[in-house]
Amino acid sequence: MNEAILNTLCEDEKDEKQLEQIANVIDHYKKDPGSLIQILHLSQEICGYLPLKVQKFIAHTMEIPLADVSGVVSFYSFFATRPRGQHIIRVCMGTACYVRGGKKLVEKLEELLGIQLGDTTDDGKFSFEVARCIGACGLAPAIMIDSTVYKQVNPNRLEDILSQY
Ligand code: FES
Repeated sequence: MNEAILNTLCEDEKDEKQLEQIANVIDHYKKDPGSLIQILHLSQEICGYLPLKVQKFIAHTMEIPLADVSGVVSFYSFFATRPRGQHIIRVCMGTACYVRGGKKLVEKLEELLGIQLGDTTDDGKFSFEVARCIGACGLAPAIMIDSTVYKQVNPNRLEDILSQY
């Protein structure tokens, strides 16, 4: 592995270990065309999110432009560039959910959590994001917390739902 890039990007031993793991992932997948998304997924599992320094490392190791990596990271909502909370709340803003009140759910959640969409609560418990469709269009509006889908959600139910976490 390139020592120079490791030295530039690593602030501590944990960083170095994570980047070494990512280097192994890249080594394993780099021959598969279109493997960048898979590599980014696994890198996010390793680090918890994909900060710029990890994106730079991936671009450098794969010998591709940083813009290619950053473009994919910013395109897909499941990639995060900031540390995320213990639980991820996703409000669906796909067409069916939007039409049936998704925006009201966003407003109520912002009020209950005391944060804006895209942020994480100060205690690190919840991150609040948007999804484009979570496969429950017939029972919109829907939200997802971690891997649990809540259907036909009324804003008044949100406090109860959150209290389960
Ligand atoms: S649009 Fe929300 S679940 Fe499909």
